[in-house]
Amino acid sequence: MVSPRLADYFAAEAIDGPRVAVDLELVEARYNTLAAAFRGADIFYAIKANPAPEILDRVAALGGCFDCASIGEIELVLSRGVSPNRISFGNTIKKERVIRQAFEYGVRLFAFDSMAELEKLERSAPGASLFCRILAENDSADWPLSRKFGCSVAMAGDLLIEADRRGMDAYGVSFHVGSQQKNPRAWAQALGDVGRLMARLDAAGVGLRMINLGGGMPATYDNSTPTDLLEYGAVVIAAVREQFGTRPLDLIIEPGRGLVGDAGVIQAEVVLVSKKDDSAAPRWVYLDIGKFNGLAETMDEAIRYKIVTLRDGAPEPVVLAGPTCDSVDVMYEKNPYPMPSDLQPGDKVWILGTGAYTTTYSAVAFNGLPPLESVCI
Ligand SMILES: Cc1ncc(COP(=O)(O)O)c(C=O)c1O
Repeated sequence: MVSPRLADYFAAEAIDGPRVAVDLELVEARYNTLAAAFRGADIFYAIKANPAPEILDRVAALGGCFDCASIGEIELVLSRGVSPNRISFGNTIKKERVIRQAFEYGVRLFAFDSMAELEKLERSAPGASLFCRILAENDSADWPLSRKFGCSVAMAGDLLIEADRRGMDAYGVSFHVGSQQKNPRAWAQALGDVGRLMARLDAAGVGLRMINLGGGMPATYDNSTPTDLLEYGAVVIAAVREQFGTRPLDLIIEPGRGLVGDAGVIQAEVVLVSKKDDSAAPRWVYLDIGKFNGLAETMDEAIRYKIVTLRDGAPEPVVLAGPTCDSVDVMYEKNPYPMPSDLQPGDKVWILGTGAYTTTYSAVAFNGLPPLESVCI
């Protein structure tokens, strides 16, 4: 449901186009739940999920740190008065001049997953703390991130030993079990790999001190994802303790979606309700928002948002599409979406759980549409 604060906001504002509103109190509540669930772990908010300055300020005020993917994100976080020692440069793919710039800003924590990146870091961020990302299974994630990032456990071992030999701080290891990970046990398998890696490195005299557990904590969508973050934390922290006992370790989590997804709601509008012929085929409902102005994660129908309206007609499955003249701008067709039978053009709809990966995926002026408007309340 829409939180009372968001409902009041949308009721009070005359809004013309689609707009996402993020409730900062909900962000704070999720932050506190994550902190309690993953007790002892530092929270590095993955700002790619939603870099609204008000969210950054709230996370900073709560004592959070920041996972940044680019120099632009680093500069944004620094511009909010955050100290560079609360920033991790978590992208494994960086231009060398960008590494140098981040290092000059004072950033000292960097991800890598290859020899070529290690060489850049050695030259341009000498002595920095490094963590090596390993490949992890992304089964049961709605938005997998596998393959593009990370290396094998064997290669990670070689790289971290080499990093140490070259005078870098071989600090730790990271993995990402895939975004919107539906199974909290997904972390345990990766932690087994980390255990083997650490044992090898201990034997080589390179004692790693940090595990970055990545993101993957879920938001609430329409397809019955478990959302009890406390359960996630309990399962993951138990797996850490089972694997590593009382070994002192810095733990990092990098929630994006799990922190801000549920805090946002998009108000949008029905533009057209039509049929392609007079058969029983489903109606098409076209909204003023689609894949190009905020709902990119409906690609392959991966993320299925909850959508509410004020109509109470019996729900009938519809094909739900966006407003642009591009035929891929269809959100749900393979699995049609139940919408009230009396839905009309001009009706408002509220798309829930849209605080993450909406504004940042929104195109600039595709079909002349402005990027998704965003406010924080
Ligand atoms: C390195 C890294 N950390 C954290 C995240 C955030 O993941 P999630 O939104 O699933 O929490 C991402 C997402 O792409 C990522 O690439």
